Amino acid sequence: MSHKILVLNGPNLNMLGQREPDIYGHTTLEDIRRAVDARATHLKLTVDFRQTNDEGELVTSIQSARGGADGLIINAAAYTHTSVAILDALLACGVPVVEVHLSNIYRREEFRHHSYVSRAATGIICGFGAHGYELALDAIARLLHNKK
Ligand code: DQA
Repeated sequence: MSHKILVLNGPNLNMLGQREPDIYGHTTLEDIRRAVDARATHLKLTVDFRQTNDEGELVTSIQSARGGADGLIINAAAYTHTSVAILDALLACGVPVVEVHLSNIYRREEFRHHSYVSRAATGIICGFGAHGYELALDAIARLLHNKK
């Protein structure tokens, strides 16, 4: 049976393509979803791709990974820098977590340099734009393969 990966996207990522294109590029979230689906098919993974602007909904999705998924990829967007609730959910989810950001958060404002998500992540991919999601899938496929 193929591994199931939950890919979670936080607030304002539904605005990709329109939102600060100098930072985030012109790729839409729908473009990213399609690229993720194609990469997942290549890697023989199943993907559940979601976006929400709501912190509580993200927490509920993360909780659903326990027993419901084999790995989790998350771009928590602004909640990355603020949400202990998301960190706590990730610490309890029981599956490998890969953190993704389109931009290189360490080259940006000081307040983006701290990530609560990182404390629960096996690794971080940031600064590669939309391609980061495919890199994250590759990383999680390898993690799951090595765990067998
Ligand atoms: C982001 C970086 C965050 O600092 C920001 O709040 C976002 C997007 C990224 O993908 O580069 O909304 O997570």
